[in-house]
Amino acid sequence: MKIDVKALEAPCGAIVKGVEIKAGLSDRQAKTLRQAWLKHHVLVFPEQKMSDDDLEKFSLCFGEFGKDPYIEPIAGRKHVCAIKRLAEEKSPIFAESWHTDWSFLEVPPAGTCLYGKTIPPIGGETSFANQHAAYRELPKTLKTYIDGKWAIHSAAAGYSPEGIFGVKGSEKDRSMKILVSEGARKTQKHLLVRKHPENGRKGIFSCFGYITGIDGMPEDEAKDLLLELYRWQTKAEFIYQHVWEEDMLVMWDNRSLLHRANAGYEGFDRLLHRTTIAELQTNEPHY
Ligand SMILES: [Fe+2]
Repeated sequence: MKIDVKALEAPCGAIVKGVEIKAGLSDRQAKTLRQAWLKHHVLVFPEQKMSDDDLEKFSLCFGEFGKDPYIEPIAGRKHVCAIKRLAEEKSPIFAESWHTDWSFLEVPPAGTCLYGKTIPPIGGETSFANQHAAYRELPKTLKTYIDGKWAIHSAAAGYSPEGIFGVKGSEKDRSMKILVSEGARKTQKHLLVRKHPENGRKGIFSCFGYITGIDGMPEDEAKDLLLELYRWQTKAEFIYQHVWEEDMLVMWDNRSLLHRANAGYEGFDRLLHRTTIAELQTNEPHY
């Protein structure tokens, strides 16, 4: 079977056919898919009947497992998390703000795999915003202004005891197992404009929710700049809105995209299984 990668009519994303994931990937197939992943940022694999073992094996074709510090894995697995919401649930939608996964880590994960198990008939799409395109199209003055500036990332607003998920009693209304900790207050600097570790292309690496400021910049000025950037980064022309199906696997590149979950499926169950792919080991700093 020959792998068929067809680009979507969107700023990022491609549909991949001609591969049966549960049969395992050859080295050659993994190489082809990695190149397609870097080119298209989001790969969509429809009609893949897969177990958690298959999902883990697939992820390991692209790197080690990444860390998932604030979501408890599912029973019996160390590296598979459930993105889960029940029909009657009233808690806020998980990951509804634009972000890149765990950007507050020293070395954030290179990618994320998400497999659709229970998909509601309406809503629940995942949106992706191409940050290489957002940087490329950025007005020159803003490009020059943000180049070389360091953003301060932290998980505090979400996962510290004072964060959104730290609200006492809120865990009772949520089916996802979120791990709140003091460690979430840690900060980590990353350049606002980062070179992709694998292809060297520049992209904006900024997500409003996980950034608390810009190194050396007064708070108000930093907030205004981050807001202006955020509006630019999430313009419709950079966005692909992904519609899920059951048995569909999606893998995306966290280094070149922002993504967010969408609501609109109240009254329906939704369940996806997720793994993260660690950044490649290299002697170069991962800014
Ligand atoms: Fe995410």
